[in-house]
Amino acid sequence: MYLPFKLFKSIFCTLLLINSILCYDNYVPSKRFLHNSVIINDKLLILGGYTFNHYEFEIFYLDLSKSFDNFNLTWTLISDEGLPVYVWRSTSVLSLDNSTVYLIGGLMQNKETHEYDYSNLIYTYDCLTSKWSKPVIDGDKVPPRQNIKGVIENSGKIYIFGGHNATNLTSLRGVSFNDMNVLDTFSKTWTNLNISENLPLSCAEYAANILPNGTIIYIGGLERASNDANYTLVNMKKIKLFNTITYKWSQMNATGSYIGPRWYFSSVLTPDGYIIILGGLSYSGGSIDYVGVSPKLARLDTNQNPFIWSIPPNSEVNAPPYIWGHTANLYNDYMIITFGSELGLNNSVSQVYFYNIKSNRWVITFSPPDSKTITTSTPSPAAEKSKSLAIGLGTGIGALLLISCIFIAIFIVRRIRKRSVILQMPGNIG
Ligand SMILES: *[C@@H]1O[C@H](CO)[C@@H](O)[C@H](O)[C@H]1NC(C)=O
Ligand SMILES: *[C@@H]1O[C@H](CO)[C@@H](O)[C@H](O)[C@H]1NC(C)=O
Ligand SMILES: *[C@@H]1O[C@H](CO)[C@@H](O)[C@H](O)[C@H]1NC(C)=O
Ligand SMILES: *[C@@H]1O[C@H](CO)[C@@H](O)[C@H](O)[C@H]1NC(C)=O
Ligand SMILES: *[C@@H]1O[C@H](CO)[C@@H](O)[C@H](O)[C@H]1NC(C)=O
Ligand SMILES: *[C@@H]1O[C@H](CO)[C@@H](O)[C@H](O)[C@H]1NC(C)=O
Ligand SMILES: *[C@@H]1O[C@H](CO)[C@@H](O)[C@H](O)[C@H]1NC(C)=O
Ligand SMILES: *[C@@H]1O[C@H](CO)[C@@H](O)[C@H](O)[C@H]1NC(C)=O
Ligand SMILES: *[C@@H]1O[C@H](CO)[C@@H](O)[C@H](O)[C@H]1NC(C)=O
Repeated sequence: MYLPFKLFKSIFCTLLLINSILCYDNYVPSKRFLHNSVIINDKLLILGGYTFNHYEFEIFYLDLSKSFDNFNLTWTLISDEGLPVYVWRSTSVLSLDNSTVYLIGGLMQNKETHEYDYSNLIYTYDCLTSKWSKPVIDGDKVPPRQNIKGVIENSGKIYIFGGHNATNLTSLRGVSFNDMNVLDTFSKTWTNLNISENLPLSCAEYAANILPNGTIIYIGGLERASNDANYTLVNMKKIKLFNTITYKWSQMNATGSYIGPRWYFSSVLTPDGYIIILGGLSYSGGSIDYVGVSPKLARLDTNQNPFIWSIPPNSEVNAPPYIWGHTANLYNDYMIITFGSELGLNNSVSQVYFYNIKSNRWVITFSPPDSKTITTSTPSPAAEKSKSLAIGLGTGIGALLLISCIFIAIFIVRRIRKRSVILQMPGNIG
C-alpha cells in the first residue's frame, strides 16, 4: 500500500506542477504547536510541529507579497520530500544567504516506523529545490536536544544554548543542559564550547535573540540547578548575555515593568533594538501550570543599559488568546504569530496574528510594503508562460481530475489510518 501510494503521489504532483494552483494552493493545514517557522523571500514557511493525534509533516507557506486578512489565509503546500522524520520542539535557523534552513534537534520520530529516531539530528532544507538532506557534520558529536532556540551570527555560526533531552520518551522527563553548542554553517562543524566561567543554570524554552554586535540575549524559560531538582521559571529581569566574540557569559538586571515569568513563549528583535515577546505558559511545583501569563505582550528596550521592560498601552486590544508553543517572525512592520496551543481549550489555534510594531497594535489585515505590491501584481514572464502552458494542456485536465479523485480517495484512507495513531501529550519537559 505504502510504496504504490508514494509513487502515485510523485507522479500526480509532477503532473500538476505545471499548474501549481490546482495542486498546492488553498492547503488547509492541521492545527499544531511546538513547530518552527522561517521567512524566506517573502514566504512564511511552517515546519513540523505537534499535530495532536496524527503524524504530519508537510511544509507549507503563507505568501507575504500580497495583502490578506488573518481570517482568510491562503496556505500553499510545498512538499516533504526527503525528510525521514516527524519533528517538533526543534529549532530552525535560516542560513546567511537565505538558501538553506537548518533544522536542529527536537523530538524526532521515524515516518515509517513511528519510533523515535535520533540517527540524525541535523537536517537541511534547500529553499530552491525544496529538498531535504542530511549534511555531514564534522567536529564534536551533535547531542540530542529539545526545547532549544538557535540564533545565527554574521559569520554564519549558529549558537544553541542548553535545552533538555527527554530520556524517558513516555513521560518526556530527562536531563537538562547549560552548555553552548555552535554549528558553523560554512565549515559544517559542530563545536561544544567548553566554558566554565559565569555559567548560567541549565535552561530550556527560553527566548533567544542576537544583537547586531554579536551579543545573544536569553530571556525567561525554565531553569534548574541539577537534574534532580524541579525546574523553576526564570525571572524575566534576570537576563543572560552571551558575547559571541569573547565567548563570555554575563548577567544583566533589567529594569522597568514587571513581566510575569514564562516558558514556551516567542520573541522577535526589531531593527530599532526592541525585543517583543508574546504568550507562553506558567509553571509551578514541578509541573506545567495551565494559566495565562501576564502581560501577554511586552517589550524590552535593549538600547538602554540596563535593558528596560515596558508594556505597550494597546497590546491587549485584539490580542490573540492565551497561547503557548506558537512562533513569532518579524516581517517589515509586522510581528507574525503562527499557530500554538490555546490555554484552557487544550487545542491549538489555527489563526495567524499580526502585531504592527510601528503602531504597536494588533491588526487584522496584513499588507506588504507598497513597492512590493506593485512588483508582484504584474505577473512575471515565467508565470505567464506557465499559465498559457496550463491552458494549453486543458484537454489533460479531465484526466488529471480522474487521477485527483483516486489520489484524494487514497489520501483520505491514509489520513483515517494516521488519525488512529495516538501520540502522547508532549506537555512536560521536567
Ligand atoms: C479571501 O481571499 C481570497 C483570495 O485572496 C478572496 O478572493 C476572497 O474574496 C476572500 N474572502 C473574504 C471573505 O474576504
Ligand atoms: C536574506 O533575507 C534578508 C531578509 O529578507 C535580507 O535582508 C538579506 O539581504 C538577504 N540576504 C541575502 C544574501 O540575500
Ligand atoms: C538523550 O535521550 C535519548 C533517548 O531519547 C537517549 O538515548 C540518549 O542517551 C540521551 N542522551 C543524553 C546525552 O542525555
Ligand atoms: C517513564 O515514564 C512513564 C510514565 O510516567 C513511567 O510509567 C515509566 O516507569 C518511566 N520509565 C522509566 C524507565 O523510568
Ligand atoms: C574544559 O575546560 C576545563 C577547564 O577550563 C578543562 O579542565 C577541560 O580539560 C576542558 N575540556 C575539554 C574537553 O577541552
Ligand atoms: C542583579 O541583582 C542581584 C540582586 O537581586 C545582585 O546580586 C546582582 O549582583 C545583580 N547583577 C548585576 C549584574 O548587577
Ligand atoms: C518538586 O515539586 C513537587 C511538587 O511541589 C514536590 O513534591 C517535590 O518534592 C519537588 N522536588 C524537589 C526535588 O524539590
Ligand atoms: C551590544 O549592544 C548592546 C545594546 O546596544 C549593548 O548593551 C552591549 O553592551 C553591546 N555589547 C558589546 C560587547 O558591545
Ligand atoms: C487541559 O489539560 C490540563 C492538563 O492535562 C488539565 O488540567 C485541564 O483541566 C484541561 N483543560 C480543559 C479545558 O480540558
